[in-house]
Amino acid sequence: MSPEVRRAAEILRAGGLVAFPTETVYGLGADASNADAVARLYAAKGRPVDHPVIVHFADPATAFIWAREVPDAARALAAKFWPGPLTLVLRRSPKARDFVTGGQDSVGLRVPSHPVAQELLRAFGDGVAAPSANLFGNVSATTARHVLDEMKVELVLDGGASAVGIESTIVDLSSGEAVLLRPGGISRAQLEEILPLTSKQADSPRHSGGLERHYAPRTPALLVPPHELDAEIARRGAAVAVLAFSRPDERVDYWIRMPREPRAYAQKLYAALRELDAAGCATILVESPPETTEWTAVRDRLSRAAASPVP
Ligand code: TXA
Ligand code: MG
Repeated sequence: MSPEVRRAAEILRAGGLVAFPTETVYGLGADASNADAVARLYAAKGRPVDHPVIVHFADPATAFIWAREVPDAARALAAKFWPGPLTLVLRRSPKARDFVTGGQDSVGLRVPSHPVAQELLRAFGDGVAAPSANLFGNVSATTARHVLDEMKVELVLDGGASAVGIESTIVDLSSGEAVLLRPGGISRAQLEEILPLTSKQADSPRHSGGLERHYAPRTPALLVPPHELDAEIARRGAAVAVLAFSRPDERVDYWIRMPREPRAYAQKLYAALRELDAAGCATILVESPPETTEWTAVRDRLSRAAASPVP
C-alpha cells in the first residue's frame, strides 16, 4: 500500500476528511459510521444535513452488510456493474444510521472501480461516506486540482482525471421495483439488459441530484439548440464563452470544442464548465446535444447547469 493511502485511511479512522479519486468524479470521504466525521463532511460541503449520502465499499459483500434485504435484482446488478459507476439504494441495515441516510429507511451503496479508491476502501475496511468533492450545488470535481481549488481538506489523493467524468447511475431497489433515480455512468439500456426499470416516481426519496439547479457553474449558462447558436452569439457579442461541437467562431474568445461521442463528452464536461466559468464572461452558451438516449446523462447534467434561452 502506498504511504499516501495509508495516511488517508488513518485520517478517516481519526474522523477526518479525505478527498479521493473515483472513476466517476472525486469524492470527499468520511467514516460512514462516525456521526462527527459525517457532520464535518456536510459542513465542508455546505450541504443540508437531511440529504442522504452514498456509502462506498471495496467489495459487494461488505456493501451488502449495510442493507437489511438484498433483492435478487441488486445481486444481479452488482454482479454485472460492480466495481463501477452504479449506486444501489436498498433498505438499510442498522449499520446505516440516520446521519448517512438523511433519516430515510434506505441507504445508497456503491463499489467504485478506480484503483486508488479500491486501495483506500480496502485499507479502511468499512463504509466511507462520500459525496462529490465540491461545494454544494457546484460542478463536481474530476481532478485533484479541482478539489484543491474549491475546498479545504487535509489530504487529496491524486488519481488523475476521472475516466467517466459524471456521477454514478442511481437505481432505487428499496420499494420492490427498480427505479432509475439519476442517469449516469451506466446507461438505461445497459441496466435494462439485466432488468426492467420503472420511471421515477413523484414521491421518490429526497436526493440532492434531483434539485433543479445543481452541478452549476457560477456564470449563467444557457442551453442553445445547434441551429440557434450562431444567432445567439451574434446577439450577445464578445461577452460569451461557448461549449459546442462545431469549430471555434472568431467572434468568441473562449470556446471549447466537445467530442460528438457521449462518453468522451461526459469525461470532459465538468473540467470544460470550470474552465469556461473561470474565463470571466457574462454568459456561457452550451450547444445542446442530440435528444437521443445515449445522451440522456449528459443532457441531465447540462439541463441542471443551464437554463434555456429566453425567446
Ligand atoms: O459518482 C458518484 O455517485 C459520486 C462519487 C464520489 O461516488 N458521488 C456522488 O455523491 O455523486 P453525491 O452525494 O454528490 O450524490 C449522491 C446522490 C444524491 O443525490 C443523494 O441524495 C443520493 O445520491 N442518495 C444517496 N442515498 C440515497 C437514498 N437512500 N435514497 C435516495 N437517494 C440517495
Ligand atoms: Mg454532488
